Formats: sequence, C-alpha cells, structure tokens
Amino acid sequence: MAYTVPKLTDYSSAALEKAADTLLSALKHESGAVGSPDQWKTFRDRWVARKNGIVTQINDLWLKSAPKDAKREVGQRVNELKKIVELTVDAGQKWWNTGATVGVVHLGIEVPAAALDKYAREKVGPVDITLPGVRRAIGAEHPVIKTMHEIVGVFQKLGYSVAEGPVVETDYYNFEALNFPPNHPARDTQDTLFIAGQQSKPQRERLLLRTHTSPVQIRTMEKMRPPIRIVIPGTVHRNDPPDASHSPMFHQIEGLAVDTNITFGDLKGTLDHAMKALFGSSVKTHFRPSFFPFTEPSAELYVTCFICGGSGKRGSDPCRPCKQTGWIEVLGCGMVDPNVFEFVKDNGYDPKKVSGFAFGMGVDRLALLKYGVDDLQYFFQGDVRFLEQFG
Ligand code: DAH
Repeated sequence: MAYTVPKLTDYSSAALEKAADTLLSALKHESGAVGSPDQWKTFRDRWVARKNGIVTQINDLWLKSAPKDAKREVGQRVNELKKIVELTVDAGQKWWNTGATVGVVHLGIEVPAAALDKYAREKVGPVDITLPGVRRAIGAEHPVIKTMHEIVGVFQKLGYSVAEGPVVETDYYNFEALNFPPNHPARDTQDTLFIAGQQSKPQRERLLLRTHTSPVQIRTMEKMRPPIRIVIPGTVHRNDPPDASHSPMFHQIEGLAVDTNITFGDLKGTLDHAMKALFGSSVKTHFRPSFFPFTEPSAELYVTCFICGGSGKRGSDPCRPCKQTGWIEVLGCGMVDPNVFEFVKDNGYDPKKVSGFAFGMGVDRLALLKYGVDDLQYFFQGDVRFLEQFG
C-alpha cells in the first residue's frame, strides 16, 4: 500500500520518531523502485510538489497542528525530514540526468550532523563517503574593491593607516568643518542627497549621505593627535542619475598627512610615487591649480594616459579615455586649509604649528579605465557573468 501521511494525535518523542521512521522507510522504498526518468518525475512530484507533496503535507498535518509545547521538537523533526527528502530527490535528479551516483549528496551538504547519524546512515541507505561533496562557488573580489585594495595597499606601504567613517553624515562634518560655510556656493558642486525630516534640527546636525570621504579627515583629527597619515576608503552618494560614467553611489579614497613642516613638495613626491606604483613606473604626473574649500592651495593631479601612453592616439584612432589629450585626471589634492585645522585646534592641530596635505580620488573611474570597461553600471548590477571575468 502506498504511503500516506497520517494525522498525528500523539506528539510524544517516541510517537514522532515512529512517524518519521515510517516516512523514511517509504522514501527509501519508493526511491529504490524508480526505474526511469518518467517515474523519477512522478516520485519527485509526490514527495516535494509545493502543492500537496508529502513534504508540504507533513508541514500542514504535523507541524501546523502541533500543540504549542511540542512545536519546537516537531519543527526540528520536520526540517530534518524535509532535508533528507530533498537530498534524496536531488540525488535522483543527478542520477537520471547525469548518471552520477545516488547516495553522495547525503554528505557534503547541509544535513545536520545529528540527523545524518540518526537517519541517513541506517535508514536512507549506504553513504559513500569517498565520493566528492558539492563544491560551493567561492566567488571573486569585485573589481572596484580590488582596485580599492590596491590603492590602499600602496599607501599602507608608505606607513599610512586606514580610517573609516559613517556614510550617513551630518552637515557639520560633510561641509561646515571642511570650510564650506552655510549657503556657500561651493556646496552646489556636490549634488547632495539629504535625509528627510531634519528641518527642526540646527543646520549643522542635519543628516545627509556623505558626498565625499573628506569628512573622515575631521573625524580622525578629532580622535588622533598629530602626526597622522591615513587613507580613508568608502562609499559616497550624490544626486546624479545613473549613466555610463555616473552613479548615485560610488567609491572614493581620501588621504591625509599632518605633521610639522609638511610641504607641497611632500604632497607631490608622495602622489608621484603612488601613481607610479599604481600605473607603472613610466607614468608622469602633472599638477594643475584648482579649488577646494578645504585645501589651499589646491590642485588636480593628472597622469599620462595609461591607455595610450600619453600620445592621445590608439593606432590611427583617437584615444577616448583621455579625450586625445594624453592626460587623465585622477584626483583632487592640496595643502590642508588653516580654517579646517581651526575646527580641531584643541586636539593639537594649531595651524600655526602643523601643516598637512590631503587628496581624494574616485575609485570607480580608475577601475573602469584599468579594466577597459565601457559602462560604470556593469559594476553595480551584480551580474555574475560580468563579475566572474575578474575572478
Ligand atoms: N572631496 C573632493 C571631492 O569629492 C576631493 C578632494 C579634493 C579631496 C581635494 C581632498 C582634497 O582631500 O584635498 O570632490
């Protein structure tokens, strides 16, 4: 007679064990009797069909109707049985699709050890422990994170340590303490995503998504006295619609060095070294004057295009990444503005005594160039076919 799932009236451990045993011997008997792919499908549907398969039935007839104090034990039992049934069905599928040996799957996957001992060894048939288990895909480092690690690594070798800070930031750290006064037009250069419902707070306490990693400069100087040398990797957000070169979320790495007598020469030497370490010893660096509220003087750093080698051409075609100029902008930098030190003066940053340099770069764009990817959105769609190419 074919097995039918009984209603349970007795929920004692002994009764549960008996019911489980009966179910498992039916499973063993029926799986052993399958002799063709068609029969295997019938077997599969009978046991695991969502609608009224045996697994669904034990859930309904045993677990759902169990009295409160038995729920836990019944739940564990039902889960164990469910696993064993699923594994048996999987084994059948492998067997009928590929000829792989039945029995293997009982090991190597998530059968609770206790359940294995209790049932699988004696009741589900012999387990061949010499056969390989199921290998889980290990995955690979995301290209943006990989680039980030490389950049951070270059600075760690120079003695920099790594600092991090919150992505949801206050107006004070993101703007005010970086010398963007309230209502200053320089704030408009960073299209900011504000957290709603903050109007009742004083402006400096209002929350926003940080638009750059620079706020962590202040947070770190509040905690650590000079001298400091830190790099700060992290995600930042801006109100930019996504396209091939923009994303509302992207990654930056910030750098900050403060000591007595730090000069623009230190900044140039450090960044020139870092660029050669990252892009090869033949790249040249080039600083152009710029403006950032928190550095004075400020500059943008360009490196010779590592795609075309600085010629602006690829064969007879124009080099697109550098727009035929032979130079690629990689970061903003400058000497820390004394007004910034004023905000952390009490922690040893008297602008009359210390000086420092800072820099900030966008990681995603560098990763795009490095890997020759032509659309930034690929980085954030999570498509395994794209990502596994970097494994
Ligand atoms: N925070 C700037 C931005 O996101 C980049 C930057 C420029 C950072 C100059 C710095 C710096 O530390 O000195 O546009």
